[in-house]
Amino acid sequence: MHTQTVALTGATGYIASHVVVALAEQGYNLVGFDNLSNSSAAVVERLEQLIDGPFAFHKVDIRDTATIAEALQQHQVDAVIHLAGLKAVGESVDDPLRYYDNNVAGSLSLLTAMRDACVNQLVFSSSATVYDPDQPSPLTETSQLGPINPYGRTKYVVERLIDDVAATSDLRAINLRYFNPVGAHPSGLIGEDPVGTPNNLMPFIMQVASGQRDELSIFGNDYDTPDGTCIRDYIHVTDLANGHVAALNALATVTTSEAINLGTGTGTSVLDVLRAAEQAVDRPIPTRVVERRAGDGAVSFADPALAADRLNWQADLTVAQACVDHWRWQRQNPTGYPDLSG
Ligand code: NAD
Ligand code: UFG
Repeated sequence: MHTQTVALTGATGYIASHVVVALAEQGYNLVGFDNLSNSSAAVVERLEQLIDGPFAFHKVDIRDTATIAEALQQHQVDAVIHLAGLKAVGESVDDPLRYYDNNVAGSLSLLTAMRDACVNQLVFSSSATVYDPDQPSPLTETSQLGPINPYGRTKYVVERLIDDVAATSDLRAINLRYFNPVGAHPSGLIGEDPVGTPNNLMPFIMQVASGQRDELSIFGNDYDTPDGTCIRDYIHVTDLANGHVAALNALATVTTSEAINLGTGTGTSVLDVLRAAEQAVDRPIPTRVVERRAGDGAVSFADPALAADRLNWQADLTVAQACVDHWRWQRQNPTGYPDLSG
């Protein structure tokens, strides 16, 4: 069991809430920071239920350097997992200033607070979106980078910021490049709660299944793939959360900074996901094929070998399991967390 204290930014968000549960199971002391811009305070109560104890939570913006530094000192934090960020690609195209301010200036502020509080271990939520979409899969960490939208470029810039700081200070960091997180905790107490119309495939499918939306639009079936729909690497959020525990353990062996993919290594098409979801929900899900979505590459999946080697971690759960778990969350919380139901 560990007695390290870990701070999570974006602590009440979809992925971080699952990381909190995984870390609590391993005995870490935890503290959470979130400005609640895309999550609900109700998550704190759900987490306390799941971890069977209090969760130290601060409602704070990561751009508030002084408050973050003070809290890091107050809780004697050993390591930070930095998940706070805005993540909607379309929104980032419409309002790049907001995205650079939140994601890049926010990370700069956090790194400054960490320096001021003498915290020198960091795990950062990066994304497979940093890769050039024309690169062949499986994508390795040395595949060519080339994000094609402002959101992806903020992730790219923050990775370089972390690399630069780690090269010239005591900072030791891992940039985790997530592929497509899906699913929910098996309790159905925490899960993904998108505001408004979901951008991502799984929450959209589940809202169609529950009758909140009429049909799924399949964005193109004329790609150069076996069934014509795009292929992605869907990783169960529980596996992803465990990858963070593994990354924290591996920080002891990192000298500066490293980028590591978190994916399953298996590509799954939109139609494959749809079939798995129909099995899980036990009803047909109406669909319509529409135009391709701008910016979508045909195929993207990870080479997870480096994660196996450096983190001693691999994904174990299937897309079918993710659908079952996501559906349980959806059924138990048809309008999401209490104060995000609008
Ligand atoms: P999420 O929106 O559910 O969680 C992010 C959390 O960060 C939210 O609770 C939000 O309120 C908080 N936040 C945002 N800006 C903040 C700020 N300035 N100060 C304090 N808190 C702030 O998203 P998620 O899916 O859990 O994603 C977590 C991280 O993983 C993000 O950085 C995201 O870019 C990255 N990521 C997500 C995916 C995905 O598909 N979900 C894929 C790759 C990478
Ligand atoms: N899709 C549909 N209909 C929908 C939604 C999605 O057909 O309503 C298709 C997309 O065209 C794509 C696939 O389902 O082929 C997956 O789409 P998502 O939007 O769920 O995922 P993406 O791979 O496009 O992007 C996601 C995150 C990004 C992240 C990237 C890589 O949204 O933030 O994974 O990690 F950067």
